[in-house]
Amino acid sequence: MRSLLFVPADNEKKLEKALASGADALIIDLEDSVALSAKPAARAVASRFIRAQAGRPGPRLIVRVNGLGTGETDADLDAIIPAMPHAVMLPKAEGGMSVQHLGAKMAVREAEGDVADGAIKIIAIASETARGVFQLGTFAGASHRLAALAWGGEDLSADLGAERNRLDDGSYADPYRLVRAMTLLGAAAAGLDPYDSVYTNFRDEAGLRAECEAGRRDGFVAKMAIHPAQVPVINEAFTPSAATIARARAILAAFADNPGLGVVGIDGEMIDLPHVKRAERLLARLDLVRSAHLNDRTVPPA
Ligand code: COA
Ligand code: MG
Repeated sequence: MRSLLFVPADNEKKLEKALASGADALIIDLEDSVALSAKPAARAVASRFIRAQAGRPGPRLIVRVNGLGTGETDADLDAIIPAMPHAVMLPKAEGGMSVQHLGAKMAVREAEGDVADGAIKIIAIASETARGVFQLGTFAGASHRLAALAWGGEDLSADLGAERNRLDDGSYADPYRLVRAMTLLGAAAAGLDPYDSVYTNFRDEAGLRAECEAGRRDGFVAKMAIHPAQVPVINEAFTPSAATIARARAILAAFADNPGLGVVGIDGEMIDLPHVKRAERLLARLDLVRSAHLNDRTVPPA
């Protein structure tokens, strides 16, 4: 997945619109973008919407439930697990224990709803609270469902009592840069996909593009979006370019042609084992993007 578009679950018009956005996944939100009084209706809409899309081509459907401390999570899961979304997104996760906790709740409902055990994945927003930040090294082996870690700069700023999270030039202030990097490291340590946080200024395409480029450079594989206009920018940035692919293939070919070689120079740069691994990972990711987007012309052909 490259792009994941948030859509408030109480807004049927936006849900329909989001289907045509080109996003790889929709995050149907039952949490912060839905008022407490609107949550029961939003659960019903989310469930109906997911069932209506069953078997149709289109984006993967993920539901962001309310956090485990809210008292709302069980009602969320009761409504949406039987509809079989692709994944449940857990906000304000605090380490592997919180994922296990959610996984247990999901397993019960899968069993009751005749859904195969473990069929529904978990994506954790892992660093929205200071407590969560200190648990970022605990996700390895937490659950066979856990597929990805995301980070969130908005809730974290609220937890820290900060005035804002970005500097005047648009870049993140130190606490968020640290947490962004730590989430990336936590995901890699646990063998999970890292997803970059949202860019809230949805009219600033250049700023979004720059942040996507920086995310991909550092190892994020996807970015979350809040507005349909952000989706094409994210998809393009997180699809490996033809030049990047060609270079990865050249690196692998150089080593394949010379078994026993440890290091080689390509275009004036030293290439050894870490570069080979990087090239292999890039091509593996391209295969994943391609298999999920057979009709997407932005994805380079095999
Ligand atoms: N998904 C689907 N459609 C969306 C959308 C979204 N996330 N965001 C905007 N749209 C639609 C609007 O409904 C509007 O449709 P219309 O032309 O048929 O009326 C169109 O795109 C243009 O929207 P625009 O006027 O530019 O923005 P807005 O002021 O209507 O909405 C937000 C701004 C921020 C409220 C809206 O983008 C949104 O709801 N984002 C998701 C918020 C969310 O889920 N947050 C939680 C995670 S951080
Ligand atoms: Mg939030």
